[in-house]
Amino acid sequence: MNNDEGPRAPDLEWLDDGVPRASAFQDTYFSRAGGLEETRHVFLKGNGLPERWQDRHSFAIAEFGFGTGLNFLTTLQALKEAECRFHLTFVSFELYPMTAAQLEKALGAFPELTDEARALIDQWSPEPGWNRLSFDGSELVLGVGDARRLIKDLCQGRESVPPIDAWFLDGFSPSKNPELWGGDLLSAAYQLTARGGTLATYTAAGWVRRNLQAAGFEIEKQKGFAGKREMVVGAKTSGT
Ligand SMILES: C[S@@+](CC[C@H](N)C(=O)[O-])C[C@H]1O[C@@H](n2cnc3c(N)ncnc32)[C@H](O)[C@@H]1O
Repeated sequence: MNNDEGPRAPDLEWLDDGVPRASAFQDTYFSRAGGLEETRHVFLKGNGLPERWQDRHSFAIAEFGFGTGLNFLTTLQALKEAECRFHLTFVSFELYPMTAAQLEKALGAFPELTDEARALIDQWSPEPGWNRLSFDGSELVLGVGDARRLIKDLCQGRESVPPIDAWFLDGFSPSKNPELWGGDLLSAAYQLTARGGTLATYTAAGWVRRNLQAAGFEIEKQKGFAGKREMVVGAKTSGT
């Protein structure tokens, strides 16, 4: 994958507890206090899931950025546990897709997700642009490249996805990865969101909150994961 045509895999450092850290951003892919629990607290509970899945025939989640796939796989597992048999579309963006070996090592820390991780790794062959992968009734729509560029394909209808019911805003820390928290990107996210759609993020940074509000989302702070005092959730309460 590290050839001239393919996407660039990240340079990783592996911390003592097995958590991967991206050298270029000097930040970890998930909390050292527990990645699985962080995903459940911040992204699932923060978006009112799994409760909002009841009585739905389909549901669409979108995420900035895909990283190890932990959020995606935890969502698949929650869906299975909730015994909801509907079509999930999970849209995600990744500028530096991991190699299969990197994914395998990172996800090896979560034995609960062994089946889901295997299904991902077995079909993992990310190409620049749009990739569609099937998972037992669910679809992963993975945009490989810069989210700020790729999201225009969705907004302008060049790549078709349903209106987004829930956003997982999971860039690296805003101070280290401001590109994934910018006003234009969040406005595009708002444009793609279904009325009543929600968002959740682990950060409560003031300028990110202001960008979310300027985009149109109503937001509020909630208790963060582990040692974090605050996180942010939001919703699109008006428009189409
Ligand atoms: C905190 S990690 C995401 C963790 C991930 N959700 C998981 O479950 O493992 C942030 C991700 O955003 C990606 N990223 C950073 N800048 C990006 C950009 N401009 N466009 C797309 N992805 C980007 C990084 O490579 C990294 O994989």
